[in-house]
Amino acid sequence: MTRVQRERAEDKKSPNEARVVFSRFRDLRSRTLDVFSNTSRYKENAPIENRNGVLHIGGSSAVELAETHGTPLYVYNEDRIRANYRRVVEAFKRHYEKFSLFYAVKANNSLAVLRILQQEGAGADVSGPTESYLAVRAGFDPQRMLYSGNYHTNDELVQGIRAGIKINLDGISQMRRIIELGLRPEFISFRINPGIGKGGHEDQVYAGPNVKFGIKESEALEAYRMAKEYGIRRFGVHMMTGSNILDENYFETITGILMDIVGRIAKGLSIKFDFVDIGGGLGVPYKPEDNPLNVELVAKKVVERFKQKVAEQGLPKDIVLMMEPGRYLVCDAGVLLARVHSIKEADKIFIGTDAGMNTLLRPAIYGAYHPILLAGDLEAEYRKEVTIVGQICENTDHLARDRLMPVITEGDLLAVLNVGAYGFAMSSQYNTRPRAAEVLVASGQHELIRERETFEDIERRMVVPERLK
Ligand SMILES: Cc1ncc(COP(=O)(O)O)c(C=O)c1O
Repeated sequence: MTRVQRERAEDKKSPNEARVVFSRFRDLRSRTLDVFSNTSRYKENAPIENRNGVLHIGGSSAVELAETHGTPLYVYNEDRIRANYRRVVEAFKRHYEKFSLFYAVKANNSLAVLRILQQEGAGADVSGPTESYLAVRAGFDPQRMLYSGNYHTNDELVQGIRAGIKINLDGISQMRRIIELGLRPEFISFRINPGIGKGGHEDQVYAGPNVKFGIKESEALEAYRMAKEYGIRRFGVHMMTGSNILDENYFETITGILMDIVGRIAKGLSIKFDFVDIGGGLGVPYKPEDNPLNVELVAKKVVERFKQKVAEQGLPKDIVLMMEPGRYLVCDAGVLLARVHSIKEADKIFIGTDAGMNTLLRPAIYGAYHPILLAGDLEAEYRKEVTIVGQICENTDHLARDRLMPVITEGDLLAVLNVGAYGFAMSSQYNTRPRAAEVLVASGQHELIRERETFEDIERRMVVPERLK
């Protein structure tokens, strides 16, 4: 079976998407979680609701949101972002007080979303100068930011170090250039490739052989030695081995492997590490058969292994355990609303919407599965196999292939779920289409947090040389 055939077969395993999706949240509805005992008013509600057959997000009707703000429209549920953050932090802190979470800004860079996570107490994991700029604008303290891009340019190193952000390097040559440039970071961390990785998709594996990220242990020893001899006194260590992982055992295993490497480097070079950052990667269920990740179990297992290795390797007892998830915090808080404009019955039934690979790229690049609901009629039977596409001039432009859906007619509103992470952030202006608007919902209120782009926005930076006028 080819990959595409496999994905299509998986697509078909979904007899009634709406029922599957809502059953995942059934036990959550209005349940006050004890993990929120410090903030007992806090209730964890499902990110989406079925109110009389109409999809509601954060108390607002999807149908009304689309009418008010137009489509395609990204909608984020504020309460869900807060609940996701608290679930992770409380789970880890219950087992280890010196746990710190830095939100991976690349997942969703909207200032309002950043602000929510900053208010919750997150630090920021930024992959470059623009993300660090936005994080500062959202109120993050540069001291609580990690600059973990890859293949940093000199300018980026200079900007990051001058801004006082902790620098995380993913290549030894970057350390050489820091020395050549005479930069004096207070702090240096390296991204280690611990030799194995895992991901929800083969292209989401970021460690192991043949990946472009990080440095191997042998090189890491040399890199930390170079940093120490240059006079750096404060160190961290980092890995990011894959994304969208739903295997609770994996995080513990990979933490153990990294901690052994950390121990050998610490002993070999007599250096003290301030933190160990085990990256992001916490997965979310996209496909009907996926089970939600048990974060409580992940935290328990990771911390047990971490503490065991701290003792075994003689590492400092106050060493900070860090994570930098992106997807887990924002993914299921986001819904993309798309209007069906044009239906074509050819070899297949093509449902043409105003959201395509320019709006949501994941299905086109990873064959990613996103649940799709008929927002105005959640009770409708799923009985017609259709392919849902956008308006982009590429045959990869689809939101779902050969998917069982209710009968859809032109004018209907579709809701694509789990798009809060790597949704808008990966969107483009391809085919010269303005990017979508974003709305934040909370307690039945909805506020625009990013205006829909206009033709003028697209034209703004274009220059026609005088001689061509
Ligand atoms: C360095 C780094 N940290 C954190 C993340 C966030 O990963 P995730 O969204 O899987 O949690 C990524 C994602 O690619 C990353 O590259």
